[in-house]
Amino acid sequence: MARARVALLWVCVMRLALATVYFQEEFLDGERWRNRWVQSTNDSQFGHFRLSSGKFYGHKEKDKGLQTTQNGRFYAISARFKPFTNKGKTLVLQYTVKHEQKMDCGGGYVKVFPADLDQKNLNGKSPYYIMFGPDICGFDIKKVHVILHFKNQYHENKKSIRCKVDGFTHLYTLILRPDLSYEVKVDGQGIESGNIEYDWNLMSLKKTEKSSADSKPWDQANDKAQDWEKHFLDASASKPSDWNSELDGDWQAPLLQKPPYQDGLKAEGIDKDIWLHQKMKSTSYLPQYDLSEFENIGAIGLELWQVRSGTIFDNFLLTDDEEYAENFGKATWGETKGPEREMDAIQAKEEVKRAREEEEEEVMAGRFPGHENPFSRFHRRDEL
Ligand SMILES: *[C@@H]1O[C@H](CO)[C@@H](O)[C@H](O)[C@H]1NC(C)=O
Repeated sequence: MARARVALLWVCVMRLALATVYFQEEFLDGERWRNRWVQSTNDSQFGHFRLSSGKFYGHKEKDKGLQTTQNGRFYAISARFKPFTNKGKTLVLQYTVKHEQKMDCGGGYVKVFPADLDQKNLNGKSPYYIMFGPDICGFDIKKVHVILHFKNQYHENKKSIRCKVDGFTHLYTLILRPDLSYEVKVDGQGIESGNIEYDWNLMSLKKTEKSSADSKPWDQANDKAQDWEKHFLDASASKPSDWNSELDGDWQAPLLQKPPYQDGLKAEGIDKDIWLHQKMKSTSYLPQYDLSEFENIGAIGLELWQVRSGTIFDNFLLTDDEEYAENFGKATWGETKGPEREMDAIQAKEEVKRAREEEEEEVMAGRFPGHENPFSRFHRRDEL
């Protein structure tokens, strides 16, 4: 039994060892984050970030993240890492975001950029691969964006995924898998999943491209294949030496049965009558190949607008391993979410108490009592 446990532990260790972490940022080394993150100077009016765990938190140091500090500003900041491609691999993008101000209108999403991003000039027009995370504006927009760049266009997930609108820290996870499935998780719970091709309306792209004649060699072959008879002449046979045309008639090679047609096979030349495995080299649409696959992923950043500032971004992660991301989420957000709510509850109680005391003082001083509702004074972190 002990041995089984050791083996299990070993498997776990091996799994973690196999995970590739492309980028991980917890802001645990004081002001040194400024060496890793580049504030864009493309617009002198861009808002500034500071390191803060906010007014209430689960852990004063661990919960420190990038906080927006100025109202009514655009923000643009990014960090670099060694470029990689997610071709043939799972890609997990994860981070935490906390709108501790009452978020009325503003972005809470992250963007993933190609390595050639000009960080100093990052702005709303900088091309990105992925945009992911919550966006809130008034009562209408409360959604999780999942936008993918494909063929020089941005494509938004057609499902409407609702985001959290309270003031607590939430964990957002996007998983893109090489089998073209995806998953969006909030606080570790899957809230949306499906097929990238369908949920991003990329089927229409497929149709357009299929109609161009030069990009569908196998389609022509398929059409032809349906006309073919089930037999073909055995070209390797030769007329027997004792064949007498006058007596036996014209010699014909014997008929051989064709192998049954299957999906994924194509006819290699009508004359040759040979089925070959379909090669999709000459097409520009390769469903298993280039949807949600990005070359030279090299930067992550925040490029957004906020009416009221105070949002905190933390625990950024890019990896190829879902399990690693899950464990990282548990070790960060999972550990501090409980204490964060406790601190918020204590603060709320104190504020109610303070408001009551102030009111009592006013009554004692003979002023009008109760013209102010004590409950309107404390900061509710509930839904908008
Ligand atoms: C901002 O960036 C763009 C490129 O995206 C550049 O053309 C422009 O000159 C930049 N503006 C400033 C003030 O740096």
